Amino acid sequence: VIKMADVDLTGKRVLIREDLNVPVKNGKVTSDARLKAAIPTIELALKKGGKVMVCSHLGRPEEGVYADEFSMAPVVDYLNTALSVPVRLVKDYLDGVEVNTGEVVVFENVRFNKGEGKNDETLSKKLAALCDVFVMDAFGTAHRAQATTHGVAKFAPVACAGPLLAAELDALAAALKNPKRPLVAIVGGSKVSTKLTVLESLSGIVDQLIVGGGIANTFIAAQGYQVGKSLVETDLIPEAKRLMAQAKANGGSIPVPTDVVTGKAFAEDTPATTKSVADISSDDMVFDIGPDSSAALVDILKNAGTIVWNGPVGVFEFASFEQGTKALALAIAESKAFSIAGGGDTLAAIDKYELADKISYISTGGGAFLEFLEGKTLPAVEILEQRAKTTA
Ligand code: 3PG
Repeated sequence: VIKMADVDLTGKRVLIREDLNVPVKNGKVTSDARLKAAIPTIELALKKGGKVMVCSHLGRPEEGVYADEFSMAPVVDYLNTALSVPVRLVKDYLDGVEVNTGEVVVFENVRFNKGEGKNDETLSKKLAALCDVFVMDAFGTAHRAQATTHGVAKFAPVACAGPLLAAELDALAAALKNPKRPLVAIVGGSKVSTKLTVLESLSGIVDQLIVGGGIANTFIAAQGYQVGKSLVETDLIPEAKRLMAQAKANGGSIPVPTDVVTGKAFAEDTPATTKSVADISSDDMVFDIGPDSSAALVDILKNAGTIVWNGPVGVFEFASFEQGTKALALAIAESKAFSIAGGGDTLAAIDKYELADKISYISTGGGAFLEFLEGKTLPAVEILEQRAKTTA
């Protein structure tokens, strides 16, 4: 793909698609990781002399309808404080917008435009007509083929990748395409069903695939143990067996927990009991991996060359059930391996243990990160590749 860094932006109208989809409460941004990640791109575009327009979606509003609660206003307030130039929110921009050098114009939520989600051609052409250069930098939304992520890139005079998107793709390629081995992945979270394709694709390439959370319960059940009242997907037990066999056939393994921490109810104050997986009783709920399992997994992580992390291995929000996630998080932080982490819950765990600067790369993508792990082509990247070929 063409990179923004290599494009002359002097005096050009530059439209940057960012993923500024951040949580907002009472008109204030409550988590600014995505904004911090986007700022260097905006600053670089300004420095390169561009007339900078930035657009993003926020939340999932009903398309075509303005709604205050989904306004970009809180994001614009944040950017006004964070950037050294004035940042202006523009509501009506589709028929043209005045931008000067030395300011940043932010478009109102792109999902207020009818046709955004369907990648409508008329809308895409209107967006493309607003700029000389379109910069796709929204890695977190690169798995969506929508008007501001895909259509506009088709019709803009120049379409290129911003530095954040480029860095995300480089980090993921370093972890998955030609990794330093052993390559270890941690896939936690509640359900096998939502991560089946990720597990499928990773079990074919990693040396060890660590499973945790509700996902691990299905693997524990696949080994013939009862998991009581735990979250489990019995219909996917054959899949779990197949994945374990597949990992083995590829010279790898899926280490399944041998001990767990259980409670009787999903509540912070439920008494926690550590036990072997063979002793799980019919009224138990598994909420964390046990200390033996975590020690074994920490050893695996210590020797890893590359670590990919998506999903906590227990209910780390509750003090009695955080040990597994905390131990693995610390092991990743201490490891010399190249480590990459992504996904909302994973980032929350990294924040809780204040390890952000000890992970080699933290992705801004949730769904997009998962789709990359699944081995899928991201449509927003694909169109940039196509454009690069035809412009070359
Ligand atoms: C995300 O938060 O994962 C991205 O911003 C994409 O949002 P969406 O799932 O609403 O398209």
